[in-house]
Parts: sequence; structure tokens; C-alpha cells
Amino acid sequence: MSATVHPNRVEVMISAEQIAERVRQLAAQISADYAGKQPLVVGVLKGAWVLTADLVRQLTIPVRCDFVRVASYGMGTETSGQPKLLLDVLEPVAGADVLVVDDILDTGISVAWLLDHLRTKNPASLRLCVLLDKAERRRVPVTADYVGFSIPDRFVVGYGLDCGEQFRELPFVGHVKGDQ
Ligand code: IMP
Ligand code: MG
Repeated sequence: MSATVHPNRVEVMISAEQIAERVRQLAAQISADYAGKQPLVVGVLKGAWVLTADLVRQLTIPVRCDFVRVASYGMGTETSGQPKLLLDVLEPVAGADVLVVDDILDTGISVAWLLDHLRTKNPASLRLCVLLDKAERRRVPVTADYVGFSIPDRFVVGYGLDCGEQFRELPFVGHVKGDQ
């Protein structure tokens, strides 16, 4: 797919209103599950920056926030194998209740690697929240504890997700018209 597609060519699959409602529900569930605790929310850059910002503002529990950056894709749309850690978590992880927030669970390769990496830092607990889950694409066994929406195997953009660094700013999740 060309990297110069106009935003008008992105077809809405999940509207901004649907996302906002689902994020509210996830935040209520997470707030209940972590009642009395102060989890460390670890957003996975860049894709999860929008979800992380929206999610933490709906929580009714105190949190610490940090980010990691994992590169698994070049300019293409397929995981390139071995993920690279470009930015590690800087907040203390040992003994913390860590909630990883990612944009989409696809093959699972990068997040499985990230969860293993975080586990070596001895968190008290480790859970995963994703906005989108493409279960049929999974190549390694990873399940998210909190899932916004299960979607079919289509490449999606918007709400933090990109295609060649385009479309992260769109307030909805969509599909590029004419693409597979
Ligand atoms: P995985 O290692 O294959 O699970 O890759 C996960 C990462 O690939 C996600 O965090 C996204 O950054 C990216 N990714 C996977 N599917 C899509 C998609 O449909 N649109 C945009 N990015 C995607
Ligand atoms: Mg990502």
C-alpha cells in the first residue's frame, strides 16, 4: 500500500464514540480489579499512546505511568521477527502491579517478548490490556486480560495505529479503502 493515502480514504470501522464507551468500560473493570493498589501502567510506544492517555484519565485508582518503545515493524505491515527494545521502562518494576497497555495484539511476537522482558524485573503481577485483538493472526500464545474489540484480520489505522507513520491522529479505528 502507498504511504501517501489521504485520510478521506480511511473507512470507519470503530467510531470515536464506540471507542470512548469501551475505554470507559475497561477503565471501570481495571479500577475494580486493582482496587486498593497503585499499578504501574506501561504504555507501548508509539501505537498505545492515545489509548494510554484516554484510559488512565478514566481510572478511579491512582497509577504510575511509564512507556516502553518496541520496534517490530519497519515500514511494512508484517512483524520482522526479533523485536528491538528502543526504550525500556524507567520506573521501578520490582514488586509493582504492572499493566501493559498496547494498541493491538496481532501475531503476539512483540508483546510476548516484552512480557518476558518485564517478568525478568520481578513485578508482583503482570497483565495486558489491548484496544484491538486480531486473534486469527496469533503465532505465539498470548492472551490479553483486557480487550477493547476483537477484529478480523484486516490492517487497521487510527487512534494511535499507523501505516507508514500516517493516520495515528485519526480519532477512530479504520481501514484503508482498497486495501486488503
Ligand atoms: P505483533 O508482534 O505482530 O503482535 O505486533 C504488534 C504490533 O504491530 C502492534 O503493537 C502494532 O504496533 C503493529 N500492528 C499489528 N497489526 C497492526 C494493524 O493492523 N495496524 C497497525 N499496526 C499494527
Ligand atoms: Mg505497537
